[in-house]
Amino acid sequence: MLKGKTAAITGASTGIGKAIALNMAENGANIAIIYIGDKDPAINVKKQAEGFGVKAEIYECDVSDYEISKTTCEKITADFGSVNILVNNAGIVRDNLLLRMSESDFDSVISVNLKGVFNMTKHFSRSLIRAESGRIINIASVSGIMGNPGQANYSAAKAGVIGFTKTTAKELAGKNVTSNAIAPGFIETDMTANLPQTVKDNANNIIPLKRMGTTEEIANVAVFLASDMSSYITGEVIKVDGGMCM
Ligand code: NAI
Repeated sequence: MLKGKTAAITGASTGIGKAIALNMAENGANIAIIYIGDKDPAINVKKQAEGFGVKAEIYECDVSDYEISKTTCEKITADFGSVNILVNNAGIVRDNLLLRMSESDFDSVISVNLKGVFNMTKHFSRSLIRAESGRIINIASVSGIMGNPGQANYSAAKAGVIGFTKTTAKELAGKNVTSNAIAPGFIETDMTANLPQTVKDNANNIIPLKRMGTTEEIANVAVFLASDMSSYITGEVIKVDGGMCM
C-alpha cells in the first residue's frame, strides 16, 4: 500500500510510534526512525523493519529543539531522497492538577507535544510539497478534545495540535499535501502502564468497547491516512478510542 514511499516517524522506538513504523514498513514504506534516548529500541525497530525488505535508518533528535530538528530533517531528506509521509507522534506527559502543576511541567509538555509538531512539520514541509501527495499525520489525543483533569498542559498541547493540523491542511491542500490527526483514547503503552489500577478500571467503565486499545489499532488508521485510500480526507481528526469520546 505504501511501496516506494518514505515515512519519517517521531518517537518511533516505542509504543504507538513503533507500531506505526513497523506497520508502514510492512506495507512497503522506507522508514526514518526518529527517537530520543536509548538507542537499542530504535535499532530493534530498524532491524524488524528491514525484515520487511525496506530501507530503515535511525536518527536521534529532540523534536522540541528547532535547530536539531532542522538538521535531522535535512539529513533524512538527503538520505532518502524525499519524504512523503510525516508522522508526528513523539509526546510526553507531566500530569498534575493545575494547582500543583509547575511552570516547567507546563513548558516541557508544550515544547515536545506542540512545538515539536511545528518544528518537524516546518522542516519537512518542502520535501512533503515536492512529494506531491504528501501526508502529515499528527497523533493528538481525546484529552485535547474533551479535556482531562490533571492534564492542563497535555490537553492544551493536543488541542493545539488539532488546530495546527487544520491550518496546515488548509495551507498545503493546494500542494496536494493532506494533514490529519488521530486522537487516541486509552492505549496500552508505556505512557499508560504506570496509571493506577483504579484509573484503568474507571477508564474501562467509560469506554463503550470496555477495553483499552492496542498500538496496532492506532497504526492501522495511520497507514490508512498515509495511503492513497485517504486521498480526499484532510483537516480531519479521527478518534480511535473505543467510543469513549462521542
Ligand atoms: P511512549 O512514551 O511509548 O511514546 C512516546 C515517544 O516519544 C517515546 O518513544 C519517546 O522517546 C518519544 N519522545 C519523547 N520526548 C521526545 C523528544 N523531545 N524528541 C523526540 N522524541 C521524544 O507513549 P505512546 O503512548 O506510544 O505515545 C505516543 C503518542 O501517542 C504521544 O504523542 C501520546 O501523547 C499519544 N497518545 C497516547 C495515548 C495512550 O493512551 N498511550 C493516548 C492518546 C495519545
